[in-house]
Amino acid sequence: MKQVLERAYAKLNLSLDVTGRRSDGYHEMVMIMQTVSLFDELRFTLRDSGPVRASSNLRFVPNDQRNLAVRAVQRYLEAVGEPERGVFIEIKKTIPVGAGMAGGSADAAAALRGMNALFGGRLSREELLDLAAGVGSDVAFCMAGGTALAKGRGELLTPLPPLPDCLFAICKPAFSISTPELFKKLDSAPVRRHPDTAGMLRALEEGQLRELCHRLYNVFEDVDDRRMRTVARIKSRLLDFGALGTLMTGTGSAVFGVFTREDAAREACRVLEKEVGFCRMARPVPAIEL
Ligand code: C5P
Repeated sequence: MKQVLERAYAKLNLSLDVTGRRSDGYHEMVMIMQTVSLFDELRFTLRDSGPVRASSNLRFVPNDQRNLAVRAVQRYLEAVGEPERGVFIEIKKTIPVGAGMAGGSADAAAALRGMNALFGGRLSREELLDLAAGVGSDVAFCMAGGTALAKGRGELLTPLPPLPDCLFAICKPAFSISTPELFKKLDSAPVRRHPDTAGMLRALEEGQLRELCHRLYNVFEDVDDRRMRTVARIKSRLLDFGALGTLMTGTGSAVFGVFTREDAAREACRVLEKEVGFCRMARPVPAIEL
């Protein structure tokens, strides 16, 4: 019986653009993504035989194939030709669910890294990234994380210069938002404004945090949905506490502010935790070697 521990870091979108619809039902995306120091912890136990099952500290996290980490482990076992092996996955969830922070995808990516550790690095970086993209659109990014440009469904990745040192205050209102539902709403009206991705890439190259923060943009914030009023209200509160910029991540419902002063970020979290229900401070996490 072999065991391995992995951390699954949450992601934030610094930008999110939808540039078209594809014939496979997915959307063409252009996104700048960042992993942050809010993470789930996963323990993988490998057995000679048996099912692949998960357990979690949260009751509503599924323990079977509905859980992306379970699917990732199954794909890995098939890929290395050992589908009869059993794996038990213990998940300590900290990343809020239904938040747009890729919690499920981060767990799946951690599963692929963990399995590759248990099997002595049997799959190459390229093979792992291929498997990841098949499990979910955000899983490939979550494999290495850091700061990256993601295109296509989200699986075509280019590493970017690291984000200048800063702090995030991440707030999640009580409601969650379903990703397919928000994509459908987006399809019903043309996207009128797009992020200035080129300007953001320039700001990252030059290490200009302020320039970057002025350009944070997510096309999903413009979707006609009542819940975006709450998102706008939280963004406005984060600015009250001195955030350089604010954004909803992914399809929400989490919203973050970027701060340079730790005391300001801390105070924002203290107050907004009471107002919003969930608010945590986090820092950018650099890419991990695969
Ligand atoms: O790939 P994943 O299962 O994470 O995607 C969840 C859902 O999000 C898809 O079923 C689709 O509705 C939507 N999606 C999309 N275009 C993308 C990524 C996700 O339409 N690039």
